[in-house]
Amino acid sequence: MSSDMLLQQPLPPEYTSLTWAELDERIAAAKAALGKSVVILGHHYQREEVIKFADFRGDSFKLSQLAAGRKEVDYIVFCGVHFMAESADILSGAHQKVILPDLSAGCSMADMADIDQVEECWESLCASIDDTIIPITYMNSTAALKAFVGENGGAVCTSSNAEAVMRWGFEQGRRLLFFPDQHLGRNTAVYRMGMSGDECGLWDPRESDGGLAKEHLRNARVFLWKGHCSVHQLFTPKQVERAREEHPGINILVHPECCFEVVGMADFTGSTEYIIKKVEAAPTASKWAIGTEINLVNRLAKEHPDKLILSLDECVCVCSTMYRIDPPHLLRVLDNLLEGNVVNQIAVPPETQEWARVALNRMLEIT
Ligand code: 13P
Ligand code: SF4
Repeated sequence: MSSDMLLQQPLPPEYTSLTWAELDERIAAAKAALGKSVVILGHHYQREEVIKFADFRGDSFKLSQLAAGRKEVDYIVFCGVHFMAESADILSGAHQKVILPDLSAGCSMADMADIDQVEECWESLCASIDDTIIPITYMNSTAALKAFVGENGGAVCTSSNAEAVMRWGFEQGRRLLFFPDQHLGRNTAVYRMGMSGDECGLWDPRESDGGLAKEHLRNARVFLWKGHCSVHQLFTPKQVERAREEHPGINILVHPECCFEVVGMADFTGSTEYIIKKVEAAPTASKWAIGTEINLVNRLAKEHPDKLILSLDECVCVCSTMYRIDPPHLLRVLDNLLEGNVVNQIAVPPETQEWARVALNRMLEIT
């Protein structure tokens, strides 16, 4: 985890001793008192007790658009994880401040690629390949990686636009370096763009030359970083088989961070926003086994009692870092704003912002 995520101070006892009802009441009151100066954005994986206070909900793409478009507010309280708040800071105006209620809300996938490793990989690839290589980073990455991508002619993508961004990348150069999620990269290249598995080379940052044989280095069109999501990698082909055996006719709907085999067996794949829309549009009595974070699956089950909605994995798949944003942390940052104090601000250094904004804006323009 990067050092700027280690700064979260323990909550003062006045916040940890409140009941759920007291927290609810005080958050609502603080929000009302702050009025239009604050907008609360919530990612779909946020727990119920937090998401109910969000003015807007979304997947990472929608939240980045919202952060870019709400120039009238002074403060953006981001109920999500660190990389999302960083992107909001880069896309929002200079007069706006972005706040992450718990600074330790990181993302294990984003931590799997750091700037030194990526620069090493880039130098090695550029030295052994004559073609132009376009770097593409998944939104789930640090601002430093987004800046690297912007400076080297690439773009950011999210799970809802990876195909469009990769197609754009191939218009700019013959090969792509995609990080940090190997699964989103491979699933998009093979299932959406019709490439063969052999055209994807897996780059392991712990091995020399990424662990790639010379022939593979020559032939690969997409170099995939060896990173993954610790939540989505828990979904397995066996679970898909079991859901189909136990519930004939069930639809398997998964996030593209799931592994290649699971996405290959699924009926539908898409971002959190896509998953929500798919279930909303489904007929009464339809059956769904969903492969994504459990807070979203439970919410969908509650909102659609006329449909059968299950998690593909019977064991709870919670994103432990998203879960760190809880009512006491949310209340503390709102209370501080009421007193004129900005705590837990996410401020990306200006020199990083410049190129990271280029990479993010390229994504917004492409889609
Ligand atoms: P979405 O862009 O689909 O919301 O995904 C973000 C994420 O972190 C999934 O693990
Ligand atoms: Fe990161 Fe996975 Fe959590 Fe998404 S679900 S924020 S990729 S750890």
